[in-house]
Amino acid sequence: MDKNIEIIETINKISEEAKKSLDSAKESSELDGIFKAFMGKKGRLTEILHNIGSYSIEEKKIIGKKSNEVKNEIEAVYNAKKTELSAGENKKFSAEYKIDLTIPGKHIERFHKHPITAVLEEAADFFTSMGFTIVEGPEIETAYYNFDALNIPADHPARDVWDTFYLLNGLVPRTHTSSVQARILEKKELPLRIIAPGRCYRYEAVDATHLFMFNQMEGLFVDKNVKLSDLKGILEETVKHLLGARKTRFRPAFYPFVEPGLDLDIECVFCGGRGCGVCKNTGWIEVIPCGMVHPNVFKYAGIDTEEYKGFAFGMGFDRIVMLKYNINDLRLLYQGSLDILNQF
Ligand code: PHE
Repeated sequence: MDKNIEIIETINKISEEAKKSLDSAKESSELDGIFKAFMGKKGRLTEILHNIGSYSIEEKKIIGKKSNEVKNEIEAVYNAKKTELSAGENKKFSAEYKIDLTIPGKHIERFHKHPITAVLEEAADFFTSMGFTIVEGPEIETAYYNFDALNIPADHPARDVWDTFYLLNGLVPRTHTSSVQARILEKKELPLRIIAPGRCYRYEAVDATHLFMFNQMEGLFVDKNVKLSDLKGILEETVKHLLGARKTRFRPAFYPFVEPGLDLDIECVFCGGRGCGVCKNTGWIEVIPCGMVHPNVFKYAGIDTEEYKGFAFGMGFDRIVMLKYNINDLRLLYQGSLDILNQF
């Protein structure tokens, strides 16, 4: 029991010493140092308590109880002093650095998707809900996939329609996403339903409705029994989904990789069909070129034209965004101007 009292006395002494030095600390860093010197892993109180192996169980109980009390007391002194010192230090800090902690914080801008990305994702969701999958092709393409495999041989005048920049190695920045049709058909994983969004490039004089770089979304649907009425149904629904209920019409058009080829027009959103500068006084705006896959395109890919039929379309995507938001100049979408983009 003697030994016991002896250690209790030591604990009391250390505790008094600890509380006194904590109370006299002038800065929080000093306070933390003192606390650690007594209570840390190698602190004085901790060390003492490590060496109680020789006491009996009864004695250890008493020592344990005492040390818990002492620890709580020391911690209480430490916490009170910490609060006191920190308050003073904060004040001093703000006075020194002239920080006014009452000024409201900076407003953080919330950002949102670029309208082209937003509408592209909306369209992608719509097509995937109809069982289409999204695929991508390279933006730098071989002339074969961009032209030949799409029934546009080297000497065909239709190449002029898609006049483009040729690279020195004979590749081209793709002029349309139709090149992805040729690539995917070659894999012959039929039936298939895909959309292929992406950037395209053309040799183009830039104006309000033409850019040398623009976005398209290609679509291709191949199965045993695909008909023109499927194309009509799906594209009319697409227009309704993206642009709302509007009058539409299909008009014959020529694209070498479809037969028959069509253009889907909608009533001009700017003049309501009366005729204006944007629709060149026709009252209609072309939105989706489309048609039934030309047998030669299937032949290039090695697909039996008796067994499979298909339809394809290629939406000018920037145009869709333009119509959706009543933007009368495509260039506005690519200027990166926050005044414009924040309106969406
Ligand atoms: N690729 C054509 C273009 O860019 C559009 C199109 C795609 C037409 C698919 C018919 C079918 O002009």
